[in-house]
Amino acid sequence: MAQAFDVVVIGAGPGGYIAAVRAAQLGFRTACIEGWKNAKGELALGGTCLNVGCIPSKALLASSEEYEKVAHHLEPHGISVSGAKMDVAKMQSRKDAIVTKMTKGIEYLFKKNKVTWLQGFGRFVKGGDTYTIAVGAEEVEAKHVIVATGSKARHLPNVPVDNETICDNEGALAFGSAPKRLGVIGAGVIGLELGSVWRRLGSEVTILEALPAFLGACDDAIAKEGAKQFKAQGLAISLGVKIGKVTGGKKGVTVEYADGQGAAQKLECDKLIVSIGRVPNTDGLGADKVGLKVDARGFIEVDDHCRTNLPNVYAIGDVVRGPMLAHKAEDEGVMAAELIAGQKPHIDYDCIPWIIYTSPEIAWVGRSEQQAKAAGIEARSGQFPFSINGRALGLNEPVGFAKVVADAKTDRVLGVHVIHARASDIIQEGVTTMEFAGAAEDIARITHGHPTLSEVIREAALNVDKRSLNM
Ligand code: FAD
Ligand code: NAI
Repeated sequence: MAQAFDVVVIGAGPGGYIAAVRAAQLGFRTACIEGWKNAKGELALGGTCLNVGCIPSKALLASSEEYEKVAHHLEPHGISVSGAKMDVAKMQSRKDAIVTKMTKGIEYLFKKNKVTWLQGFGRFVKGGDTYTIAVGAEEVEAKHVIVATGSKARHLPNVPVDNETICDNEGALAFGSAPKRLGVIGAGVIGLELGSVWRRLGSEVTILEALPAFLGACDDAIAKEGAKQFKAQGLAISLGVKIGKVTGGKKGVTVEYADGQGAAQKLECDKLIVSIGRVPNTDGLGADKVGLKVDARGFIEVDDHCRTNLPNVYAIGDVVRGPMLAHKAEDEGVMAAELIAGQKPHIDYDCIPWIIYTSPEIAWVGRSEQQAKAAGIEARSGQFPFSINGRALGLNEPVGFAKVVADAKTDRVLGVHVIHARASDIIQEGVTTMEFAGAAEDIARITHGHPTLSEVIREAALNVDKRSLNM
């Protein structure tokens, strides 16, 4: 007889494994289906984020940043270092060890919470009062299903990715040495983060971007500062390009393209990263067997509470609308499990932060000033630079600024935008303020520790009312 569960989660990325843990905490008999195999051929939990996404990329970003700091940026502290060397193999094995620790950690969480790991890929077989799901040759029954099958890299048509010379995120996180010339197609989050890693380790990096505007999702002032900093670091970024023929071989890659002015150009590089977005994983899920609605781009259709068109079937994370971010997937996982338990959870999609881990980092939550104005909201903003903040100067990290955007009539915070080496650590104040529907004046009135980088957010909030105290 088929095993029967209250909740079956399909996929164990950050969305799925968190959904499974929460469902088990709520007392449901829970299983999670996952068939991911890592480069060693071992089954691994954690999905894109832990295996080939957030966690390994942040490990390499940190190693390459330490190298660059020691090699080039300690002199103002009065520290001189000669002969700093990098060992890419060691950086990679450190990264791999972090990934293993984290993915094994989920196995521990599953055991602790009594979540059954069904190893393999799942597909719907039959609907009805319960759902029948096949995992390999086995079938299980589920009262409730949470689909969390995530996403995979989008590739260019007719450009096969071998993850040796032409790579997506998987190959780009596993280079054995820094290529002399690295080409990147797409100046989005992956292009900028991984382009930064390999530039710091010695590659000449050229990024080709289709859109005419750089970092279009960011506030204009932040995007402009980012473009200036990345250019100064040596990242060559061409905007408004049209990619033509891409020819790859053992010796390298040639990318033919038209530049922003329409002139024919050629980029010769040793390796190429294709980072042009991601597509949802719905192939092979058997959606048609049960009538699960999938849109033309492959995303499972859901409402604001991740409910699909089928009773008792939820879908969360990268496989549904909204930003493809691990924390968004996790929160949707918790929400789905709590809805199954009859609770009333809610996600405020306007309060999901974005962080790009370049140097400086770029982080934001809510609307940019331009987006607010385009939506017909009368907005005003305040900005404050890190170059006159004592903590930033002490850290020798004076580059960047914070910007607070508020409703001109009510002062309610509409968005907070930060570009700074530690933007990831301080954006949360903006998220919390927005979740509590706070005003710029609320931030301005709250005591901020001194000396801290967070004082810059406070000064930017004061500056919405043009009353900064330190500028
Ligand atoms: P995934 O993590 O993609 O997991 C889905 C899982 O489902 C996979 O393990 C897959 O094997 C499994 N699966 C698929 N089909 C089936 C099936 N039929 N049966 C069983 N299992 C199945 N986000 C951030 O917030 N911060 C970051 O710093 C960040 N960095 C990133 C860096 C890179 C290089 C990349 C590529 C992504 C990054 N992301 C980051 C995005 C983040 O990884 C994703 O948003 C997140 O992993 C989505 O979680 P998920 O659970 O929806 O899907
Ligand atoms: P992206 O959507 O961030 O950027 C893709 C870029 O490629 C865009 O600027 C787009 O205009 C460009 N592009 C698309 N087609 C093109 C073409 N044919 N030629 C040239 N340029 C083209 O996608 P990316 O960088 O692949 O990352 C995927 C997703 O993974 C991100 O959107 C994000 O959700 C997630 N991610 C999050 C990170 C974080 O939170 N720090 C880090 C890395 C990834």
